[in-house]
This record gives sequence, structure tokens and C-alpha cells, in this order.
Amino acid sequence: MDTEQIRSRLKACGQDHILEACEKLDPARRSALLEQASRLPLDSLRELIDSFVLKGAADEPCTAISPAVVTMPDAALAAELTARGEQVIRDGRVAAFTVAGGQGTRLGWGGPKGTYPATPVSGKPLFRVFAEQIEAASIAWDTPIRWYIMTSEANDSATRSFFADNNWFGLPRTQVMLFPQGMMPCFDRGNGNVLLEAPDRIAMSPDGHGGSIAALHASGALEEMSVLGIDTISYFQVDNPLSSVIDPLFIGLHSDPDRSSGEMSSKMVPKRESAEKVGVFCRVGERTQVIEYSDMPESLMTEVDDDGRLRYDAGNIAIHLLGVEFANRVFEENELPWHRALKKVPCFDLETQSKTTPESPNGVKLERFIFDALSLVSRPAILEVDRSMEFAPIKNATGQDSPESCRQAQNDLYGDWLASRGVDVTRDGNGHVLADIEISPLSAMTSEQLQPEDLPAAVGSDDRILI
Ligand code: UD1
Repeated sequence: MDTEQIRSRLKACGQDHILEACEKLDPARRSALLEQASRLPLDSLRELIDSFVLKGAADEPCTAISPAVVTMPDAALAAELTARGEQVIRDGRVAAFTVAGGQGTRLGWGGPKGTYPATPVSGKPLFRVFAEQIEAASIAWDTPIRWYIMTSEANDSATRSFFADNNWFGLPRTQVMLFPQGMMPCFDRGNGNVLLEAPDRIAMSPDGHGGSIAALHASGALEEMSVLGIDTISYFQVDNPLSSVIDPLFIGLHSDPDRSSGEMSSKMVPKRESAEKVGVFCRVGERTQVIEYSDMPESLMTEVDDDGRLRYDAGNIAIHLLGVEFANRVFEENELPWHRALKKVPCFDLETQSKTTPESPNGVKLERFIFDALSLVSRPAILEVDRSMEFAPIKNATGQDSPESCRQAQNDLYGDWLASRGVDVTRDGNGHVLADIEISPLSAMTSEQLQPEDLPAAVGSDDRILI
């Protein structure tokens, strides 16, 4: 696109202020700004501003809602699905995929969230926790499991350095692929204009984990998967060390044509309480959707059934399986909605020619959410899993979903594993394990795989057990 084309397209979508900014710049900086502007989604920018910036999709009322249909397999079905899933893994059809582009601001951790030390005894970073699971699964099912990791512009190089410094956590370098997600401009919440962060630079922010579909495509990952015969993507967030990265039961359910269309499947846990900050799987009309906690009307959030159980309790733990063919279709249809978040965006004011740091939200950031793809699925499977075994995210510095609550969850889980093998484990009055316990998936992926010689005789209050 030449300069004149960029100028006329910016005018066509009402972004004349960028041209005004250009007038104040020397030629080199002017062309840098125009080049950045040319990479904006100029064809759809006006529509984006009108439909999502000036009016959020979340403004639409929630109608025709009912609880999502959830699968809770009994032991016989679980065994059948696990066997099916194991065959799919053994056939090399599954890849692991971590979304790690978020900024981790709530936790207050300087580096990429995956570098956060998460395990109770050795303080393994989240990335190593997943790497060990991938290595263990590759050995168990005798196939090298590919690991795709989505970063963002802000943390891509720090993430790559971390992997290199840690020798790719012992995985063959060729088994891991990192790629950055896309970026979206930030907008002025008043008039919808694209904001500048400097005289010659547009303010940008990551396009949400739903941007992973476009990033998987742009990076060549989807194509590579097709070439390698991978048809299932095991998607999980970087913040949950209990994620079962390669789960044969879940994969078996997803690939069972009687129970799922094989497009997208998700895991849920019953919500801890009505106000828990998790999205909720619901049926909206004929389709399954996640309604984000911030968008769920209070009346629905607190509604209980005759047994006193929350009617909408299917909490989204952000673990999904996506068919590769389905991901390609979602990319091509490009229909995931944009969600609008009001944020404080430091920006450059053209009138005063100075930088402003707002005290209240002045801007709109647009993000896509991966779970919106569920509404494109004809028969999704939603699997209920046990929170204590699969969900202990690290999101906040303190309180719920914090390093401390995650540490306790790991100690309780691995304490249960040891107790199931006959080890006497000391607990407090609330049933929480008092010792720090850590079991690497390279030693055992399930309690049954623990070797008798690895088991301690007993676990006291102050013990630190590393298996
Ligand atoms: C998310 C889900 C919520 C779910 C909860 C479970 C959303 C909007 N909500 O909430 O339904 O119940 O997790 O833990 O996602 N990320 C990117 N790029 C981005 C933004 C995020 O890669 O542009 C990644 C983060 O690195 C992280 C994950 O997505 O791994 C979650 O992002 P976050 O914004 O922290 O979502 P939550 O509010 O915790």
C-alpha cells in the first residue's frame, strides 16, 4: 500500500487525526507512523468502532438461557473413553497449546507469567511444570508431543530467553514452537478514535486469547499440524499448574462421535460460590456458550435449583480441545465477536502535544475470547472434572487464586495421592495437608504410578517431600 492509499483509507474510516499527527513529524517518523497505521485492520475498522468500541457486545441482554449439558462419565464409560483417548494420543494426533500472552498485572509479577515459580518444594516455574507433563506424556504414549506456546509482543523475547536459558526444559528444541499473538489498537472511549501512545506511535494491546486462532494460522502452526497428522489441539492457560495438559479421558470424549462433533470440547468444575470469578457454560438457544462473570446478570448467577445447587454452576476452567479443522474454519469465518474493556491507556494528546496518564478509564481495548468459538460448534462436549485435581490458578497476589491457595491445592492433591497409597499424611482441622509435597509427572502422572520405593513412611507437618 502506498502512502496515498494509506491516507485515503485512514480518512475513509474516520481516522483523520492520525494524518494530523503526521503533519507534525519529520519524514522518517511520519513514514513509521503511516507504516504502523497500514497494518491496522483498516477494512473493518469503522465497523469495529461502531459495533464494539462505541457499543459493547456485552450490552446485549442475556435471553433464552438454560444450563449447559454436562458429561459426568461413570467408571465404565471413563475407562472406555480413556482407552479411546490413549489411542488418539499414541497415534500422534494431539498437540499441547499454552496461551501465555497475558500481562499478569493482577499478580504483580514482572516477567512472563510462565516464569513464575509455582511448585511448593522446588519452586518450578509454570513453563517447567507443563514441559515435564509433555515429556512424561511423550514417553508414556511413545510419541513426541508438539508444544505450541502463544506469547505477546510484550513478553515474546523474555519468554524465548527463558526457554533458551533453561535448555528448553529438556525437550527437543524442534518439539516446541513459540509465536506471538496479534495486536489491536486502543481506542478513545468517547469518540472511538484510535489512540496514539507517542507522537509517532499508535497505542496497541494484545487481541485476547481468542486471537490464538489467527496466531495459530499466521505462525504456520495450523498448517504444520495438518502436515504432521495432528488433528486435536489441547488448549490451556499458563496460570494453572494443575492443568492436565494431555488428558486421555477428555481426548476420548472429544473424539467419540456419539458424544461430540469433535470440533471443540471444554472442561468445567462446579463453581465454588455464586460470585466466583469464572465464566459459566450455558445454553443460549440451541448453542453452548460461556457467559463471562462480569456479563452474567446477578439473578442468574445466584439462581438455585430444588436441591439448593446453583443452577448455573458450570465454571469455565479454560481447558479446551479444538479440532484442527475446526480452528481453520473459525479462522476463515472470522466471526468471533470483540469484547470491549474500558482501560486507562496512557496516550499522546494531539491538541496539547503532550503525553497524558489518565486517572480513570479513557480508552477501550478490544479482545477476542476463545470460548466464543463454542457457539459455532454443533455438538460440544462439556466434561465435569474435580477442582481439587485440575484447577488451582495463580491470578492474584493474595487470597483466592493466589500463589498461596495454589500451593495449598498442590499439597492437598499430592497428599491425597500419598494417602491413597497408604502413607499417613498429617492434616489440619480443615483437612488441609500441612507439609509441602511435590510430585513430578516424570515420577508419576497418577497416584497409581507412584513407585513403592519413592513413598515416604509418613508425612508430618513440616516435611518437604519431593518425588
Ligand atoms: C479466564 C476466563 C474465565 C475463566 C478463567 C479460568 C476470560 C475472559 N475469562 O479469566 O472465563 O473462568 O480464566 O481461570 O478469559 N491471554 C493471552 N492473551 C491475551 C489475554 C489473555 O494469551 O491477550 C492468556 C493469559 O496469558 C492467560 C489466559 O489467557 O493464560 C487468561 O487470561 P486472563 O485475562 O487472566 O483471564 P481471567 O480473567 O483469569
